Amino acid sequence: MSSTPEGPLGTVLVLNGPNLNLLGTREPGIYGTLTLADIEQLCTGAAEQRGLRVHFIQSNHEGSLVDAIHDAREAAAGIIINPAAYSHTSVAIRDALSGVELPVVEVHLSNIHRREEFRHHSYVSAVADVVIAGAGAQGYEMGLDWMANRLSPAATAD
Ligand code: DQA
Repeated sequence: MSSTPEGPLGTVLVLNGPNLNLLGTREPGIYGTLTLADIEQLCTGAAEQRGLRVHFIQSNHEGSLVDAIHDAREAAAGIIINPAAYSHTSVAIRDALSGVELPVVEVHLSNIHRREEFRHHSYVSAVADVVIAGAGAQGYEMGLDWMANRLSPAATAD
């Protein structure tokens, strides 16, 4: 397989919302013991195996996340997002994702449906193609797997 520095299938923006920079020490019983740097490494390797490249970003600021989604129009072929707490509050992130018209996977480390009531609704889910919750860090790899298939020239657009 020939491979360009960008990855033959393109670049995926992997976007992480507030407090995910604390992974590793933050409520490990819920979120696991991997750090965000560990998850970035996992994503980089998983993407490489699938002909993708990842651009990995974390921000605690809603507007910065919106800006990163806008930038993805030029810089990425798809978005994997863990919006963290903004899942449950942010119409702005939801609108940004629907505005850029890229394939979107929403990932949550924990199963938000088995947790407090306020976590059961995500504004992002209605504009995501795929929602993965409860698989821990493996959810990111599952998202990349779906994305590689979706971006493959053999995929049929729906
Ligand atoms: C989370 C779930 C959210 O409810 C929470 O606010 C997070 C992380 C997850 O990955 O399980 O910060 O998105």
